[in-house]
Amino acid sequence: MAATVNTLLTLKSPAKINLFLRVLGKRSDGYHELATLMQAVSLCDTLTIQLNDSCDKLSCTDSTIPTDDSNLVLKATSLFRNKTGLKSTFSINLEKVIPHQAGLGGGSSNAATTLWACNKLTNAQIPDSVLAEWAAEIGSDVAFFLSPGTAYCTGRGEILKPVKVNYSTNFTIIKPKEGLSTPKIFGKLQISSLQHRDPESILKGFCEGNYDYFNDLETAALDELPLLKDMKQQLHLNGFTSVTMSGSGSSFFCTGSGIIPNGLKYYNVFPIVRKPGNWYTEVK
Ligand code: C5P
Repeated sequence: MAATVNTLLTLKSPAKINLFLRVLGKRSDGYHELATLMQAVSLCDTLTIQLNDSCDKLSCTDSTIPTDDSNLVLKATSLFRNKTGLKSTFSINLEKVIPHQAGLGGGSSNAATTLWACNKLTNAQIPDSVLAEWAAEIGSDVAFFLSPGTAYCTGRGEILKPVKVNYSTNFTIIKPKEGLSTPKIFGKLQISSLQHRDPESILKGFCEGNYDYFNDLETAALDELPLLKDMKQQLHLNGFTSVTMSGSGSSFFCTGSGIIPNGLKYYNVFPIVRKPGNWYTEVK
């Protein structure tokens, strides 16, 4: 077995936003073919993890989140053991901040952070590119978090191409009380009604500073939860320059500044990236 180097790690587990999201079609395996530019942002959970010599133990500050095998964190530890053949077990505490059913990839990020931490704690020295391949078995957007933090993602969302987009942009993420289920929104999507926009040229635009924020899943999400339509309109009226849904919703990320209607949760965030060999930090 590989030598143990670290005994305890405390890591940020960031949210993501989809700067743009195109749905290109439905696949024979039931998933949708995507082309999306994803960005890690400074809204983070905190994961504390250490090796133990008994069995995996997960605790969470949010009592509404299950801490059994259905949690993607424990799917990640189990996948790590299966892939490496190691017997290591872990004690993990998850300090939850990222809202769920929000399209912000919180659970996926927790899984990716766990995989990266297991690799570090056991000194297994699996390259991030291999961890990303494994991550795709947990969920379509888990692999993204093993990228440098900005990536053009295709396939189910698991095929990563790291890109450099130079932002000075801050975003306000705004979330209504109601959440949305990803399978439900994909199920509602009318692919034939989508505009046939070329994702590669939109990506090129982003790299050149021409930020065309949009999301093909937005119409289905607004249809499923009509209050989102009013919310989006109100946020525009209140001053925000752009108001775009992240993932399958229900949160919006906004640029510019504006008044946030009473009762809505909001988070001021900025893009974050990570350096090779390091995990994410929130420092701008
Ligand atoms: O991969 P993940 O488990 O996160 O996906 C959750 C659900 O979202 C899938 O079961 C599927 O209904 C939908 N989905 C999809 N196409 C994708 C990603 C997710 O239809 N590219």
